[in-house]
Amino acid sequence: MDLELEVDHGARVLHGKVTHRLERPDPSAPLVLDTAALEVLEVVGEDGDPRAWSLGPEAGREGRALRIDLHADDAEVTVRYRTLPTGEAVQWLEPQQTAEGTHPFVYTQGQAILTRSWIPCQDTPGNRVTWSAWVTAPRDLRVVMSGEGTGPRPVPGSDHLLRWRHELPLAVPPYLIALAVGRLERIAISPRVAIFAEPSVVGPAAEELADTEAMLAAAEELFGPYRWGRYDVLFLPPAFPYGGMENPLLTFATPTILAGDRSLVALVAHELAHSWSGNLVTNATWEDFWLNEGFTVYCEKRIVEAVYGDERARMEMALDRTGLEEELAELEPWQTVLDIDLEGHHPDDGFSGVPYEKGALLLRRIEELVGRELLDEFLAAWFDEHAFESATTSEFEAFLQERLASRRPGALQQLDLEEWLREPGLPADAPRVTSEPLLAVDREVSRWVAGSAANDLRTEGWNTFQWLRFLQGIAADADAARLADLDATYELTRTGNAEILAAWLALATRRGHAAARPALEAFLGRIGRRKFLVPLYRALLEADAEAARALYARFRGQYHAVSRETLDGLLGFEG
Ligand code: BES
Ligand code: ZN
Repeated sequence: MDLELEVDHGARVLHGKVTHRLERPDPSAPLVLDTAALEVLEVVGEDGDPRAWSLGPEAGREGRALRIDLHADDAEVTVRYRTLPTGEAVQWLEPQQTAEGTHPFVYTQGQAILTRSWIPCQDTPGNRVTWSAWVTAPRDLRVVMSGEGTGPRPVPGSDHLLRWRHELPLAVPPYLIALAVGRLERIAISPRVAIFAEPSVVGPAAEELADTEAMLAAAEELFGPYRWGRYDVLFLPPAFPYGGMENPLLTFATPTILAGDRSLVALVAHELAHSWSGNLVTNATWEDFWLNEGFTVYCEKRIVEAVYGDERARMEMALDRTGLEEELAELEPWQTVLDIDLEGHHPDDGFSGVPYEKGALLLRRIEELVGRELLDEFLAAWFDEHAFESATTSEFEAFLQERLASRRPGALQQLDLEEWLREPGLPADAPRVTSEPLLAVDREVSRWVAGSAANDLRTEGWNTFQWLRFLQGIAADADAARLADLDATYELTRTGNAEILAAWLALATRRGHAAARPALEAFLGRIGRRKFLVPLYRALLEADAEAARALYARFRGQYHAVSRETLDGLLGFEG
């Protein structure tokens, strides 16, 4: 597809034109595209003449089908359209929602099925397209996309606009097409890695991500060549609803991983790993989502281990495991199945830690059974032989049979793959990790539970993971007075680490530690990352439902549609 877009911040509109070049296995069939919150203006063929088109009925968040009656010999078709401000992919930010506070910002988030709200296209991960784009924007802003960029060109007849060119000759599913426009600067950290962020963020961000080239080299060593050319990371304003998004060549990241000590950079290892699991080999449907995320979490841990050592990887795995167990207790059984059935659901309804953590545990279990060497060979073959294709869970099963079971007869005999893939919950043979530094924390948790004062705890030299473990551990045994003691001793309310702060604020809020309330409000008013907002609003709902609803009503307009969708349900918000 070839795109032309014009960014209008004032009206919150993208003016668009897309030309689809078509493969037509059935030349008599109409072309059907997905759209949502789009105003279609005109459809023309290569000859410039209009083609008949119609929009189907509104199908909730799936949007409306755009049916185009092509001529028998049409090899391409062009749709002119504009986005509506209600579209879910595009978030328009006011200057005060940015770090600098001086310029507006806009970006898109395509996964899972939101791309249709800024590009009419066949919006399924089973489809792949190569694309190019011309984007016109005010000249004081920079345009970046999930493809290869060549600098800006003048716009004839305008001295305040520039046109930016991007293209991706490698075929990707539509959910991986992404755009961001803002006051962005760039710092290179290696010949193929650069950081983009607002001027005041880009320096610290480049420092924090200094190990990215080492991660990339480690990943190539493990999983095969990096096929995309550049690997850049864009830091978005804090409203970004995810931790990270693996847009090809340009990971989108939340600034909340900028802790100052590189302790939260596993997120970069994760998004980078998607360059193999997800972007090279893509889940064929959103029911196969665990193939993207489970593989990626497994690969992420291998990268962390290669760059930061085994002890750190184990701490991160142990924390993930506790998180999974807590989540499993809350989810409905159907949501805890890897080969999930999403019939009648929006893909986002199936979203949880299960495809991530249970998926990764399955690969770790296979590693335990066949050994690392064979598993690594298997992974490299999986990525190589399915490169630029999509894959289903059954294809994974067949490949596992063919490439592992046959190589080491009997090795997988103990694996009940059917249970792992199709039963709810976590199988009993899920591998466990132990971590010495976390066991040391558990001893202090026990002393706390037995009544030790905050300054009697042996916390010296604790890293981020240890603090997170501690906060997890004391959650059931903390009242407001004891939390005040903890806060006075360790100044948790003032930590600059967003993971620790979010965990602490949830605990403090739930247990009525009133001194943390201003920090909670500041956090909710600035950060849009759903993973933090959900537990914080939940805690506040429990402690003070009225305050929770009032704060949500105040901040809702600043959150991305993805976060709003989840929080509307949680808080019973009705527009
Ligand atoms: N691809 C996901 C984000 C995503 C998933 C967006 C589903 C839309 C629908 C991304 O790779 C991811 O998993 N991000 C995590 C961070 C990671 C370290 C677990 C996140 O955003 O928290
Ligand atoms: Zn992911």
